[in-house]
Amino acid sequence: MNTSVTEEQVAAYRRDGFVRIPNIIDKADAARYAKAALAARDRPRAAPADPTFTHVMQLWQQDETLRELTLSPVLAAAATALAGIPLRLYHDHLLIKEPHNGAATEFHQDQPYWPHLGSRHSLSAWVALVDVPATRGCMSFIPGSHRYQGLHSQDLRDADNLMKAAPELLWEPRVTVPLRAGDCTFHHSLTAHTASPNLTDDPRIAHVVVYMDAETRFDPRQRDTGVPLVEDDGTTEGVAFPDADFPRLP
Ligand code: SIN
Ligand code: NI
Repeated sequence: MNTSVTEEQVAAYRRDGFVRIPNIIDKADAARYAKAALAARDRPRAAPADPTFTHVMQLWQQDETLRELTLSPVLAAAATALAGIPLRLYHDHLLIKEPHNGAATEFHQDQPYWPHLGSRHSLSAWVALVDVPATRGCMSFIPGSHRYQGLHSQDLRDADNLMKAAPELLWEPRVTVPLRAGDCTFHHSLTAHTASPNLTDDPRIAHVVVYMDAETRFDPRQRDTGVPLVEDDGTTEGVAFPDADFPRLP
């Protein structure tokens, strides 16, 4: 298991806005987490079916096994080294692309969805719990796109949405990053990324842990859906994210 990131990996992340870290989770642990992920998927939920992916949030508050993964000190230490600032958990989510789901996750940035005030940095760990070759809903990134700030939030189902907002990105190279079970990528919350449809007979199981600047404040004017709500105190300076729901890590 990889317990720390190298200087080269930090430099690559800061240059490109993403980096692949092989073997951050043991294979045996990845298999254990994959089993817990499928059990979590099969619990009754209110969320409507979505061809893009089956989406289950806040596993760390619902499932002992996946809590261990979300709060992993190894993942959090790597995220902190890459970001270069103290972090806290924003949320986790399981993203399962069912076999032959027929839908890509279209190009987008993550940051515009989030009600974060004064954020210096936020990033996600995308952990492959099964092998994810290019044909199984694999992620691709546009290197350097984390320099595009201030774009509106983009529609995950519209392939042109981000490209209309930033037409230069149409002509930038895209890097596809297949992962083995237990590998992960970290991506900056402004890095443009997409995931292809799952063309295979097996589910693509990814567990995503989102980290934010420990000092970021909640912007009550911009509600996110699905994450725990922060009480709005009516001010425009934002509200502190409470440690109980957004623990400081590692
Ligand atoms: C996906 O896995 O389909 C998308 C992940 C992301 O947007 O971070
Ligand atoms: Ni995303």
